[in-house]
This record gives sequence, C-alpha cells and structure tokens, in this order.
Amino acid sequence: MNSANAVIARRAGSVDGLVELAAADMAGVDALILDRMQSPVSIIPALADHIIVAGGKRLRPLLTVAAARLTGSRDDAGLKLAAAVEFIHTATLLHDDVVDGSGLRRGKVAAHLIWGAPSSVLVGDFLFARAFELMVETGSMKAMEILARAARIIAEGEVLQLSRAHDVNLSQETYLEIISAKTAELFAAAAEAGAVSAGGSAAQSAALRAYGLNLGLAFQLSDDALDYGGTTETLGKNAGDDFREGKATLPLLFAIARTGAREREFWERVIGRQEQVEGDFRRARDLIVSVGALEAALDMAAGYADAAKRALDIFPASPLRDGLEALADFAVSRRA
Ligand code: IPE
Ligand code: IPE
Ligand code: MG
Ligand code: MG
Repeated sequence: MNSANAVIARRAGSVDGLVELAAADMAGVDALILDRMQSPVSIIPALADHIIVAGGKRLRPLLTVAAARLTGSRDDAGLKLAAAVEFIHTATLLHDDVVDGSGLRRGKVAAHLIWGAPSSVLVGDFLFARAFELMVETGSMKAMEILARAARIIAEGEVLQLSRAHDVNLSQETYLEIISAKTAELFAAAAEAGAVSAGGSAAQSAALRAYGLNLGLAFQLSDDALDYGGTTETLGKNAGDDFREGKATLPLLFAIARTGAREREFWERVIGRQEQVEGDFRRARDLIVSVGALEAALDMAAGYADAAKRALDIFPASPLRDGLEALADFAVSRRA
C-alpha cells in the first residue's frame, strides 16, 4: 500500500443497512434492467450484458427506490424510474469510456476495446432510449421532466469538462460546475424522481433533490481522489486515468496551488501539454499526498456529505433515513 492508498483506507464505511432495506425493490429493478436491455440486434444485449452484468454499485437506482419509500410509497411506482436512472448512468459510462479512452470498467475490459467505439456509443444511445421508454410508461410528466433535464445537463457537463481539459489554471468554481453537471445532477434527479413517484410533497422532493445533489458532489470528489489514492484492483477501473488524460480534477488543482512556482513546469508539462514519461504519475501522486491535497479534497467531500445528511432533517428518524445518512458517509469513504 502506498501513502495515497493509506489516505483512502483510513476513511472506510458501510451501506449494508440501506442495501438490505432496499433489497426487494432492487431485485425488481434488476429484473427490469435485464428485461429491457434485450433486443433482436445481437450486439446490443451482448455489449449491454458485458457492462451491466459486471455489476456496478447500483447507487443511483438505490437512491430512487429509497427516496420513494422514505416519502411513503407503498407500491412499485419507483421501480421503472429507478431502472431508467441506471440505464441513463450506464449509457453515460459507455460514452465516457470512449471519450476518456479508459481501458477498464467494473473490473472488465472496457466495451469499446472489445466491440469498438462506434458500437459502444450506439449501444449507449440504445440504453438512453430504453430509459426514455421506461419513463414514458410511468405516465409521470414531472418525472420525465426531471430525468430528461438531467440527461441534458450530464451531456453539458461532459462537454464542458472536455473543453477545459489540460487547464492547470482551472478555477475551483468551474471544477464544481463540471462535477455538479456530469455527476451530481443524476444523483439529484434520481432522488427527486423517487419522491415524485411516491406523490411526495414539494418540500419532500426538494429535500431529496438537495440530498442527492450534495451526495453526488461528495461522490465525484471522492472519485477524483480515488484516481490518485485508490487501487485498480478495488476500483475496477484504472487508477491514474484522469492524470494520463490531463484532467484537471480538484486533488490536482489543490496540489498545483500548494506546490507553487517550484513545480509549475512539471504541471505545465504533464497536464498542460500532456507530455508524460514513466514515473510522472507516481511523482504527481506523491506531490498530491505530501502537500495534503488528497486530504483536502476528501475533507471537501465530507462537507458535501454533511450537507446531504442535513437535507434529510425534514424526515422523521427511521432506519431508511439512517441508511441514506450512511450512504452519504460511504460516498466519501468508499474504495470502489
Ligand atoms: C462512475 O460511477 C462514474 C462516476 C460518476 C464517478 P459509479 O462509481 O457509481 O459506477 P458503478 O455504476 O458503480 O460502476
Ligand atoms: C464520470 O466521470 C461522469 C460520467 C460518467 C458522466 P469520470 O470520468 O470521473 O468517471 P470514471 O472515473 O470514468 O468512472
Ligand atoms: Mg471517465
Ligand atoms: Mg473518475
């Protein structure tokens, strides 16, 4: 274990309680996902099976079903929306791995390296379309509005990020704008749609949306920390991908600020011009840890996790609320 892994390991936690409470709903969601990824065009189920059956944490659909139950749902109204949310997420992963040139996803060779980028992008489109069919079946215009808006904002976030890669002067504000759009928006929409499917009040929907948004920010901040402090084995994706692509994430931006003029030329070369040689990632990771940039990014994630928990204050105490609070802690402490 290197020192960056040790920073991550100190913060581990668990969401077993929530997973258990939502187990029956999530089994229903998985059945829907398996059913709706089918198509007579054989590449579609083959490629979809590769990424979907490989697992994934299913956090976003978990948010939808938990939000629905927390808001008093007594039926299965949230399940189709939850499946739609996971399809949107999976579609963005297929597209994201092509854009980021990532070679490993959910512990398996990335789909675009097996079937090619065109098939990966098009099956992503298929999954988006399936998500929209599922939403329409619920008949809820409000839920459709929430998820359609989220799909648009995610795309904007990914394009904004692409246009700001290699920028060693990226502001913290723009970084937050990017992660809010590409990641937190879907967490917010997932939770809000769950509340809406259960006929929750405007205050309940807003609280769950705020919970999801803050959770999503914490989640992406920790994802960006894990790119330096995690291991490929537990992540199921290659550590160091962000660095190799020259992505300006917060741990890196903090390190650039803290190492000042001394390392300016190093950051300009490896991120600005993306001219990297053997050993550069290790050097960047050591600098990020030694100046406390990894801890600082995780502290910021913890701040968002606390804000997520506070957003649940309007709900009476319950095992489900406890579970969602534990999920906020997990978003920061996770290693996978
Ligand atoms: C990966 O999300 C994409 C990010 C927003 C960082 P997850 O870490 O939730 O991916 P899976 O679904 O568990 O594989
Ligand atoms: C995730 O961003 C955002 C979306 C997939 C929309 P990342 O690029 O950080 O996600 P990983 O690290 O590839 O999972
Ligand atoms: Mg990526
Ligand atoms: Mg990442």
